[in-house]
Amino acid sequence: MKIQPFALERYFARHEFSARHLLSSSDCESLTMAQLLRTADPETMALWENLKLGYTETPGHPALREAVAEIYDGLTADDILVVVPEEGIFLLMNALLRPGDHVVCAFPGYQSLYEIARSIGCTVDTWQPDEDRGWHFDVGDLERKLRPDTRLIVVNFPHNPTGFLPAFGDYAEVIELARSRGAYLFSDEMYRYLEVDKADTLHSACELYGRAFSLFGLSKSFGVPGLRVGWVASRDRDGLDRMSMLKDYTTICASAPSEILAIMALKSRKSIISGHRERLLNNLAVLDRFFAEYPDCFQWVRPKGGSICFPRLKIDQGAEAFCDTLVEKTGIMLVPSTLFGYGDTHVRIGFGRENLPDVIDRFAGYLDATFRSGKS
Ligand SMILES: Cc1ncc(COP(=O)(O)O)c(C=O)c1O
Repeated sequence: MKIQPFALERYFARHEFSARHLLSSSDCESLTMAQLLRTADPETMALWENLKLGYTETPGHPALREAVAEIYDGLTADDILVVVPEEGIFLLMNALLRPGDHVVCAFPGYQSLYEIARSIGCTVDTWQPDEDRGWHFDVGDLERKLRPDTRLIVVNFPHNPTGFLPAFGDYAEVIELARSRGAYLFSDEMYRYLEVDKADTLHSACELYGRAFSLFGLSKSFGVPGLRVGWVASRDRDGLDRMSMLKDYTTICASAPSEILAIMALKSRKSIISGHRERLLNNLAVLDRFFAEYPDCFQWVRPKGGSICFPRLKIDQGAEAFCDTLVEKTGIMLVPSTLFGYGDTHVRIGFGRENLPDVIDRFAGYLDATFRSGKS
């Protein structure tokens, strides 16, 4: 298999554990083991204490799949395949796509959502948003990209990196477009439940369309990415079966301790997620003030969901050079848009972490010293 390096992940590999202040992480503040164990009910605690560290079931622990299925209207445990989130993208693309297939993917985005299809030999067209309309993805644009034989549409809402979330009507039209073409729909819902306004939460695509595959997991909205637990939910059993067969060549099954910890996280999802939402909203208020104070440095679209946003730089420096100097001089890590293959003009800011107010203070100090010194 020939595939391009995953630019964002390579950049994180270089900086994530050496930069002093991360300002671009897409996950929410991680829970500690003790915090998670404290949420466990007696039944799950018994599973934890009596756990034998053997191999586990390929589709996932039955109790985990039950707990996941509860999130979705009309789905059962049999409609769930437990995967590492990134693995789910890999498995789905390889299960559904053949060389020459036509794919349309939301872009900019998480690289594997289009790169894996390209590596298989598919023709990938991109569906791009309009920054001047609040990073709006226009459904008419998507329709124009579709062909009668389009095999797969790939979307990701709330969107990484812009934080865009479509209106219900637009989202319904996307599903209808997939249905009318008989195309598969892959809906990456990793940032679900992190909508700024809860009322904007979309239905999961797998609830609305039989050929949709929804990816979700515990990395972002639950703040436990180290468990490496996610899942693909779909009523297309044939597709899930094909993914399971491929999983024999990737991980075979999930980590036994992670599965039990994942059950705990899912059972306590209301309190865990509401804690993260509260922090996100507080941090968003910090960003509101920050961007209001630095209109000469940034143009900002306030995100509607997720834990990241994608401001445009207005200073006289490319995003990559800006980020390189920033991390070198201050230890603050930001991600430039070049890593998304989306020009050299934007940076991604993550606001799910506890220390965001402190890091933003340091960042403001750097901007003052570098771009405003000498100005009154
Ligand atoms: C949109 C999106 N999909 C999938 C993933 C993969 O999740 P994980 O890193 O937990 O495998 C990420 C991670 O950043 C993401 O942003």
